[in-house]
Amino acid sequence: MKSSIESLQQEIDRFIIESSDELETFRFRFMVRKGSIAELFNRLKNVPKAERPAYGQLLNRLKQSAEKKYDTAKKQLDALSSGHREQHFDLTLPGRTEYVGSEHPVQKVLGDMKQIFRAMGFTIATGPELERDSYNFDLLNFPANHPARDMQDTFFITREEGENNLLLRTHTSPVQIRVMLDEKPPIRVICPGKVYRNEAISARSYCVFHQLEGLYIDKNVSFADLKATVYSFAEQMFGSNVQLRFRPSFFPFTEPSAEVDVTCYLCGGKGCRVCKQSGWLEILGCGMVHPNVLRNCSIDPEEFSGFAFGMGVDRTALLRYKIDDIRLLFENDVRMLEQFSQ
Ligand code: DAH
Repeated sequence: MKSSIESLQQEIDRFIIESSDELETFRFRFMVRKGSIAELFNRLKNVPKAERPAYGQLLNRLKQSAEKKYDTAKKQLDALSSGHREQHFDLTLPGRTEYVGSEHPVQKVLGDMKQIFRAMGFTIATGPELERDSYNFDLLNFPANHPARDMQDTFFITREEGENNLLLRTHTSPVQIRVMLDEKPPIRVICPGKVYRNEAISARSYCVFHQLEGLYIDKNVSFADLKATVYSFAEQMFGSNVQLRFRPSFFPFTEPSAEVDVTCYLCGGKGCRVCKQSGWLEILGCGMVHPNVLRNCSIDPEEFSGFAFGMGVDRTALLRYKIDDIRLLFENDVRMLEQFSQ
C-alpha cells in the first residue's frame, strides 16, 4: 500500500499539464470516482485496522496534492486562453502584414510590351543565354573578323575556331535564327530575354540587360508594315500623342535599317536632362531582314520578306519608375524592390 501511494505521488508530480486535453487526462486518471486515488481508498478496507488512520492520512494528502495541481494548472490555462481571446478581438491592434513578393520593374515593363505584341498576334519564342558564335553573329550576316562585331563587346566562353564557339549572347537576335531554322513562314514572334555585353559598368550601362526582339516573315511584308507595327506599339506603350522619328542606321542583319526615336515622354519633346535637350528618346533598332539572313535559314528571299526590330527594356523601366542607376535593377535589394509592389 505504502509503495502504491508513493508511486502514485510520483506520477502526479511528474505529470505535465500544458493543454486542456492534458488537464482532462489528468482529471480522468486521478480524480474521478474510478480514478487511481479512489481505487487506493477502496483498498483501505483490506489494511489492518490499526494502520488504517495513518494510511487514511497519507491518502488524503495524496488526494489534496492532485487537487491542488489540477486547480493551479486549470487557472493558468484559463488565464492563457482568455489572454489569447482578448488579443484576438482587439481590433485596434495593427494587423500583421504578410510579406508578399512583387514584380520586378523590368518584368512589369516586359509584361506590358509582351501584352501589346500578343494582341497583335505575335507569339513568344525564347533561346539560350549561352549561345553559339554562329547564331549570335555569322548567320546574322556578321562575317568572321568583320568590324561590325566590334559594335557588341562580347563575353566569350570558349575559344574554338568555327561555329561551335560559345559566348554569352550579346543580343536577342540569335533567337530569330533559331526560330527561322525551326519553323516555316509565316513567322510572327517576339523574343524577350537577358543579353550580356562586356562594357564598363556605370549608372547608365551594365554587363547584363534585357532586350525584346521582334520578327515577322511572310509573303509581301514591307517597310510600311514595320512602321505600322512600331507606331501601334509606341502609342500603346508611351501614350497616344507620341510622335516617332525613323533615322537611317546600319545593322548587318537588316537592309534597310533604321533606329526609332519617340518624343521624350518626360518633357513632351520640349527638351530636358534625360533626352539631353533633344526632345527625342531612342527606343529601338529595326529594319527589313537581310536576304542573306533569310538564305542562311533556308528561307527563299524571292518568295518571302520580313521585318525585325530589337529594343532595350531596362531603360524604359528606369524612366518609368524614376530610377537613376541601372545597377539597382540587378542588385535585387528587397528594400528597393518592395517599392514596386503595387
Ligand atoms: N540586335 C540589335 C542590338 O542589339 C538590335 C536590333 C536592331 C535588333 C535591329 C533587330 C533589328 O532585330 O532589326 O543592337
